[in-house]
Amino acid sequence: MSRKYLVTGGAGYVGSVVAQHLIEAGHEVTVLDNLSTGFREGVPAGAKFIEGDIRDAAKWLDSSYDAVLHFAAFSQVGESVVKPEKYWDNNVGGTMALLAAMREADVRKLVFSSTAATYGEPVSSPITETDPTAPTSPYGASKLAVDHMITGEAAAHGLGAVSLRYFNVAGAYGEQGERHDPESHLIPLVLQVAQGKREAISIFGDDYPTPDGTCVRDYIHVADLAQAHLLAVDAATPGEHLICNLGNGNGFSVREVIETVRQVTGHPIPEVTAPRRGGDPAILVASAATARERLGWNPTRADLAGIVADAWAFAQR
Ligand SMILES: NC(=O)c1ccc[n+]([C@@H]2O[C@H](COP(=O)([O-])OP(=O)(O)OC[C@H]3O[C@@H](n4cnc5c(N)ncnc54)[C@H](O)[C@@H]3O)[C@@H](O)[C@H]2O)c1
Repeated sequence: MSRKYLVTGGAGYVGSVVAQHLIEAGHEVTVLDNLSTGFREGVPAGAKFIEGDIRDAAKWLDSSYDAVLHFAAFSQVGESVVKPEKYWDNNVGGTMALLAAMREADVRKLVFSSTAATYGEPVSSPITETDPTAPTSPYGASKLAVDHMITGEAAAHGLGAVSLRYFNVAGAYGEQGERHDPESHLIPLVLQVAQGKREAISIFGDDYPTPDGTCVRDYIHVADLAQAHLLAVDAATPGEHLICNLGNGNGFSVREVIETVRQVTGHPIPEVTAPRRGGDPAILVASAATARERLGWNPTRADLAGIVADAWAFAQR
């Protein structure tokens, strides 16, 4: 059945891919984005576009919407350390206004982009949703605060909500791919070396307690992530706030990613070893057992070479 969805942040990387999947599934999509880090041309053809801020969501939201998929946020960990107020204002203040607009308009379903950064330094691996949350950056703290707000909204006002805690999102889907400025994610940075836009890739620490000494992360294809959102919006149940990790449960080290980029692009990719960065856990790998059980999610693009190949095709556009 066709439904009507508001996608906040749908001009950004993940939101645009999810909006595209919703349209392909036959739904009506309105993108609300202030273009602070997104791109007008990223909004999929077939979506209605409103250039505006989530703080003003009440201007546009009405009871004709079946659900909101909420991607709009600032998400640079390093920037959040030097400008925490920017993250509290947009991520927390913006979401408070959005939740109020949803309550007012009686839109009762929400899917929220949460993050692995809510956990901070893991106490065990893979990370499950019942593990302690102790974020090490204002970014992670702002996302955790929103998760708490949503839990209260579900309990008090009957919202049906799913928070999806993404690990490292990567890859591309058709016309939509990753374009952060500044870029901080490993795969697009290594691809910039392959494109001659950067001389070498820096490896921040090669003395971690991991098989090759470099940090291990869980990479998830953005199209697999999009499928989880379509399932989540159906699974959202009034009065319940479900939290699901999204990752493949496989970790790849920084050196494995660089080697994969060498194989996919045929470029030698020079590397430079630099000191560790503060706040980088050695291993971040998700247990996605909850997403599999509760959403029926079954990722099909876990292969790292395939993820890198899709990101490379997008980077060369
Ligand atoms: N990319 C990842 O690996 C990753 C991992 C974990 C969580 N997340 C979360 O997923 C979401 C999407 O991330 P992304 O990588 O696509 O980021 P992105 O910066 O590409 O997209 C965010 C979009 O939100 C818009 N936006 C920001 N503030 C807004 C506001 N107040 N009103 C309207 N629009 C606003 C931006 O213009 C942008 O288009 C974010 O909430 C992020 O925290 C991303």
